[in-house]
Amino acid sequence: MTRFRTSTDSARDIAADVLIVPAFSDGDLGPGLKEVGLDEAYRAARLTGKKGENLLVTRREGDRFQAANVLIVGVGPKDDLDLTAMRRRLGRAAASTRRFPTVATTFARAFGARDAADAVQAAVEAIDLGRYRFDRYKSSSDETALRECTVLVPARWDAKAVKAGAKAGAIVAESVRWARDLVNTPAGDMPPAEIAREAQRMAKDVGLTCKIWNENQLTQGGFGGILGVGKGSVNPPRMIELRYTGAGKATPIALTGKGVAFDSGGLSLKDPAGMETMKCDMGGAASILATMRVLALLKPKVNVIAAIPSSENMPSGSAQRPGDVIHHRGGKTSEVLNTDAEGRLILADALAYLVEQNPTCVIDTATLTGACMVALGTDITGAFGNNDALAQQLVAAGDEVGEPIWQMPLWADYRTLIDSKVADVKNIGKRYGGAITAALFLAEFVGDTPWVHLDIAGPAFLEGAHDLGPAGATGVPVRALVRFVLDRAA
Ligand code: BES
Ligand code: MN
Ligand code: ZN
Repeated sequence: MTRFRTSTDSARDIAADVLIVPAFSDGDLGPGLKEVGLDEAYRAARLTGKKGENLLVTRREGDRFQAANVLIVGVGPKDDLDLTAMRRRLGRAAASTRRFPTVATTFARAFGARDAADAVQAAVEAIDLGRYRFDRYKSSSDETALRECTVLVPARWDAKAVKAGAKAGAIVAESVRWARDLVNTPAGDMPPAEIAREAQRMAKDVGLTCKIWNENQLTQGGFGGILGVGKGSVNPPRMIELRYTGAGKATPIALTGKGVAFDSGGLSLKDPAGMETMKCDMGGAASILATMRVLALLKPKVNVIAAIPSSENMPSGSAQRPGDVIHHRGGKTSEVLNTDAEGRLILADALAYLVEQNPTCVIDTATLTGACMVALGTDITGAFGNNDALAQQLVAAGDEVGEPIWQMPLWADYRTLIDSKVADVKNIGKRYGGAITAALFLAEFVGDTPWVHLDIAGPAFLEGAHDLGPAGATGVPVRALVRFVLDRAA
């Protein structure tokens, strides 16, 4: 367990294994650099505070600081350092400190008192997420867990805000790490029942109401999409229902996420390369679980319900076939023309179920389409919905936390592309506009309830390292969802 703390001490007096200090390319060098007496050494090394310049100084006798090492990180011009830029620079730097169990930073001191809570939270998140590794399946590792993380703050900052920021940062980072672990765990070890067990354990730990729907209950409840997608697998489907009550009888926000434990494509089988990363196809589900965990621990005044469908999409003699028709929760039917367009089939049931509870709005997140990845690349989440104001609230939340979200059109004219000859709707459109036709399919199941769909096919799982973590699961969009819900809380 990591101990997260804040301190108003001088940078000189912090006795961490490594103290991370920013250096600006203009004006004063950066908070803490003079205090530790390294400003001259920095200049002597002919460093100018440009982005990407790093200097690690190990303490020697006579040095004016207590840390065993000081890592000086070039961040560019001072005015360019907003919270998102700090998360990125500090996250990168933190990744290079994984051999040290204790870390401190003066980074947050680059901000003003008004940003106290956000700056501390962002610093904690950057350090804990930047250091994330998934090494559970490695027989040996030379990396150390983070034992203590200290964020230095000016003494004049509001102590309550500082404390709240540290607490929120710790909870968010821990939850995002958990979401990443769930996604990075090989699908063979993370079937729907195991995702459900993880959810149940989490719910018990943090005090959420949790109901797991098993196969029989799903049959009784008419969840034909979740069952249809799961039919080909020996691992039966589940639905995870979670409730957070922070505002008495208030109308809840509803959340869901795609929980395809593994997406082989089913009988419309993917090619081998296309399947390599498909353990990531429950990234939406994991992000909703982590979001619920954060809410349970931060206790905002808001109610939230989640219904998370989970199936494994496999080909076999019992698998659903192209041409089969599904009866979804609530009675709508869909024609399955491509069994690889399975995410929308399980989400349809969950959306229909959530809308029955009359929520204020419904948000879903899903690794839904390769088409969205083609459109927006690997960094950006696509937002589709029937309510522009709600979509823009999610875009704004993403901006605040550095998880970029871009609104895409839910183009009504394309609805005809998913007209079915035999059912209410079919599960694929034409070749072009695949992210939009997928969203239009989902829209069929939400009626008039304000709804936004977040397609995270790009950012959920990355081939290479990024500023806030290594290759693999990112935990996107947990931080944006948390921000969205907190912004709406009373
Ligand atoms: N899980 C995939 C989408 C995906 C692709 C996520 C790559 C992350 C990375 C989804 O189930 C899928 O297979 N979608 C198909 C839909 C098509 C058959 C209409 C796709 O995007 O090709
Ligand atoms: Mn698929
Ligand atoms: Zn899928």
